[in-house]
Amino acid sequence: MLAKYFKPSLLKKIAARAGTPVYVYSAPVFLKQVRAYKKAFKTADPLFCYAMKANSSRGLCALAAREGWGADVVSGGELYRALRAGFKPERVIFSGVGKTPEELEYALKAGVLFVNAESFEEVRALEQAAARLGVRAPLSLRINPDVDPRTHKFISTGKSGSKFGVSFEEAQRIYMYAAESRHLKPVGAHFHIGSQVHSAGPYALAAGRLAAFILKLASRGVNLKYADVGGGWGVKEGGEMAAPAALARAVCGVFQGTGLKLILEPGRSVAAPAGVLLTRVLYRKSAGPKNYIVADAAMNDLVRPALYGAKHPVSLAGPGRGPMKTYDIVGPVCESGDFLAEGVRLREPAQGQLLLVYSAGAYGFSMSSQYNSRPRAAEVLITGPASWRLIRRRETYKDLVAAEQ
Ligand SMILES: Cc1ncc(COP(=O)(O)O)c(C=O)c1O
Repeated sequence: MLAKYFKPSLLKKIAARAGTPVYVYSAPVFLKQVRAYKKAFKTADPLFCYAMKANSSRGLCALAAREGWGADVVSGGELYRALRAGFKPERVIFSGVGKTPEELEYALKAGVLFVNAESFEEVRALEQAAARLGVRAPLSLRINPDVDPRTHKFISTGKSGSKFGVSFEEAQRIYMYAAESRHLKPVGAHFHIGSQVHSAGPYALAAGRLAAFILKLASRGVNLKYADVGGGWGVKEGGEMAAPAALARAVCGVFQGTGLKLILEPGRSVAAPAGVLLTRVLYRKSAGPKNYIVADAAMNDLVRPALYGAKHPVSLAGPGRGPMKTYDIVGPVCESGDFLAEGVRLREPAQGQLLLVYSAGAYGFSMSSQYNSRPRAAEVLITGPASWRLIRRRETYKDLVAAEQ
């Protein structure tokens, strides 16, 4: 389905010039998802804050910023990159379970829309940072709505007992405290139930709980402006985003007429379909019943298969030889868990042939590392049918040691 956006003839040129492994992103696909969100939520007119953690590459982020989106950041580093990519600070929200006092000060100085805090102690740290700067910090709380998003346990965050957020009871105590503080201004409430969520039901449930809570808070004199329902809308590996209309139906009605500004924080659903990891076949080998393709990309480039058992469809750029065979596609890293895909049906590729690993635009490069002292891959943005540009150069051996003293 996505293959039409990643033409082998163009990919061959990119690989010849930029080398492999290389992340290749399609600006048209990214924009397609961004605009699909805008269309589905047209009547509610929410603020979309692109979750930078999915892919914080300036080339992609700048596209979202130009579409009027804001950003959801979870570290000082992401805030720095968001501002550099052109997101307006008043459209940036700062989330994350463990922000340091320095990061909180940085966010306040930058003038972010609000901070999504996740504990009373963090709220105190925010209050102290605001006092040091002589300002009032715009505060939102991440509330754990105790909803099961029915996704992988590592990316499920909205059930009671998870490390994220605070309960409704605790949130109420914190808002009452904040409302009395000279240096805090309660403005929003937030949830994020998880990632790769494929049904809208859990959102409807969580949104209903959040709306009821916000109303109750208003009756106690604390009036919020923003209802932030997080990100997490899923994508089928290898496919485009599921139409977000179902998500819009699940949340928009709940907040209609409340006067609250709705906020969403999509990451994966806009970025994943927009990227492929392009890698070359180094070697082919058999071991017992298994056929292996050893590629030049590894788990340090794309860790999702090893980390979550994520299944990325793989295809050959160009024809293979002979009958279809079943392959495990592995990388050069010295770990048995180093695989990009298992049990893939392909015709035999030639040595040096290019492989496309789909749905790699989100949590691909952003989770990559230099493990095994492998310089990180280059990143390329396709901008038109035959046009592309390098948006991040391949790292060098010097980059590996650049920070060492
Ligand atoms: C607070 C928050 N918002 C948004 C997101 C983005 O989620 P996704 O990329 O699944 O849309 C995440 C992901 O972990 C998150 O933690």
